[in-house]
Amino acid sequence: MKINGTHYRTIWPDADNPKIIRIIDQRHLPHRFVIEDLRTVDDFAAAIQEMHVRGAGLIGATAGFGMYSAVLAAPHDRVDSFLQQAAEKLIATRPTATNLAWAVQRQLAALTTEATLEAKREKAFAIACEIADEDAEFCRRLGEHGLEIIKEIAAKKNGEPVNILTHCNAGWLAFVDYGSATAPIYAAHREGIDVHVWVDETRPWLQGAKLTAWELSKEGVAHTLIADNTGGHLMQHGQIDMVIVGTDRTTYTGDVANKIGTYLKALAAKDNNIPFYVALPSSTFDWQITDGVKEIPIEERSGNEVKYVTGITAEGKTETVLIAPEETRAANYGFDVTPSRLITGLITERGVTAAHKEAILALYPEHR
Ligand code: MRU
Repeated sequence: MKINGTHYRTIWPDADNPKIIRIIDQRHLPHRFVIEDLRTVDDFAAAIQEMHVRGAGLIGATAGFGMYSAVLAAPHDRVDSFLQQAAEKLIATRPTATNLAWAVQRQLAALTTEATLEAKREKAFAIACEIADEDAEFCRRLGEHGLEIIKEIAAKKNGEPVNILTHCNAGWLAFVDYGSATAPIYAAHREGIDVHVWVDETRPWLQGAKLTAWELSKEGVAHTLIADNTGGHLMQHGQIDMVIVGTDRTTYTGDVANKIGTYLKALAAKDNNIPFYVALPSSTFDWQITDGVKEIPIEERSGNEVKYVTGITAEGKTETVLIAPEETRAANYGFDVTPSRLITGLITERGVTAAHKEAILALYPEHR
């Protein structure tokens, strides 16, 4: 996507030295645009864990390049055990997004077929780039499929804007490019369809306020930031035509894990007869588990992310302030699971499908 006229992806190899991988450090957005260089497996693990990068697709792409950095550092006499350790370190950083383990396993599987360390290095770079390119391409394609849904709604609105609610950031910052929930929105905007996005601020990390609002501003898409609990009220008053969110892990039976609070939006959408769509590239499907609520691991992060808020002062200085009694304990569940029965459809790179096992497997027969 473009920032002030320049095209960026969220992760890319340095043009002069491809052993250095560059990312946008998202902790500083929307106030500062900071690019960070990653060199070692520890750099990659910290970048994922401390959320310099975040969002399921980008976590996967970062892990893919993280495995490349592991192969670069691997000693000749114990390549396999070194790579195994690196894989475990990367996978342990964040438990919910399935793209992380998927990317690491894809690297490990490809690397076992190469005999020499030199060949493994070349292969690891090629696979990391392939994962990143595929992520961008799949998001572009799912945007085309989601566009058809927005067009249908727009046709019924007689020139009035299509109002779309989204939660968290499932934008291009959460992937390599385009985004999942935002890809149909950007496609509609480019086609001249009048879209307006209600952006949930998304406590406690504020991905909506800090990232989605920034992305939409840069793309010139009309949007309004709302406090997290506003969606139900807007739905009751006919101000939301559809909901599109992303997902960190979706079971092949159609249960969707996404940022905490997504489930409540899905319940409100059901009560108000508003279509609730989830957009995802196939790398986010978990083909092993059937019951999302029981089986998807939910990340718990530090309670300090709930008790403290970071922003900039009138003088432009970044500051973190305490907003609760210091002695109060805070719980911080990162994600919740929306059961398939609340979901109107899944927007994938292969098309739109119902959120249930038979429909999903019909679209991805290789996983039967
Ligand atoms: O904690 P985050 O910022 O990594 O969570 C991101 C989300 O929940 C997104 O909605 C999700 O990754 C879907 S889009 C990749």
